[in-house]
Amino acid sequence: MSEKIAFITGGNRGLGFQTALDLKDAGVKVVIGSRDLAQGEKAVETLRAAGVDADVLQFDITKPADYQTAYDYLNSKYGRLDILVNNAGIAGGSFPGTGPEHSASEVPMDLLHKVFETNFFAQVALTGALLPLLRKSPAGRIVNLSSILGSLTLHADPKSPIYDAKSFAYDASKTALNAFTVHLAWELRDTNIKVNSAHPGWVKTDMGGESAPMEVSEGGKTSAALATLSDDGPSGGYFHQGQALPW
Ligand SMILES: NC(=O)c1ccc[n+]([C@@H]2O[C@H](COP(=O)([O-])OP(=O)(O)OC[C@H]3O[C@@H](n4cnc5c(N)ncnc54)[C@H](OP(=O)(O)O)[C@@H]3O)[C@@H](O)[C@H]2O)c1
Repeated sequence: MSEKIAFITGGNRGLGFQTALDLKDAGVKVVIGSRDLAQGEKAVETLRAAGVDADVLQFDITKPADYQTAYDYLNSKYGRLDILVNNAGIAGGSFPGTGPEHSASEVPMDLLHKVFETNFFAQVALTGALLPLLRKSPAGRIVNLSSILGSLTLHADPKSPIYDAKSFAYDASKTALNAFTVHLAWELRDTNIKVNSAHPGWVKTDMGGESAPMEVSEGGKTSAALATLSDDGPSGGYFHQGQALPW
């Protein structure tokens, strides 16, 4: 059991793709989930050319049938899952923004539902579906791609750098995801599985946009580190590049 098996949702581009690249030297077989199979295959070609042991699975996190497909694929090929990176996510508007889609009082309810469906409900459902495979790992790791924008402490502090960066649907969905991290980590406290929330930084991906200060090449570090935590590493935490963030 020398090689670890990882499943990264939304691995065809952005931070998911970068995280797959960053797992290259960690003895990890990476399965990337991609909604579009052709895009996923192209990403796998690039990953393999860079030396990553990678495969692709067509996967849409908002399609419950895909959870069973992912379970069956991983179970039949490997019989377990060591690392789940819950990376797929949507912004629900552009960053930084000021339109109604960012407002707590005017947010369109269909947008709020859509963002929560992808960024919260689907993450909870997929994790539950794959948990039996993670329980078979000698060292299961679950990384929930949160954001500093999910921090209620920082949002409530007028002195914090995110005080004026309010995107209600997105922020609340990441706060809810953080709650999932804390509750699941507690539930799994007597197992070999660690569960943590990651803030990758504000990164120049399609979602992060051109104004973001961090390059994509730096953006996978937090996810990759939490995916490969040693047995004495933390569980139930919220981190950016090794630093704990306030909830
Ligand atoms: N970039 C930042 O500055 C930043 C900061 C904090 C947190 N994050 C979080 O980091 C994660 C990755 O962000 P990113 O910047 O890499 O975003 P991105 O460039 O927009 O990529 C998003 C990825 O998620 C996938 N995805 C979206 N909806 C999906 C669905 N229903 N099923 C499966 N895959 C889906 C996309 O697939 P398609 O190609 O098919 O659309 C794409 O692979 C997100 O959870 C985001 O909230 C990002």
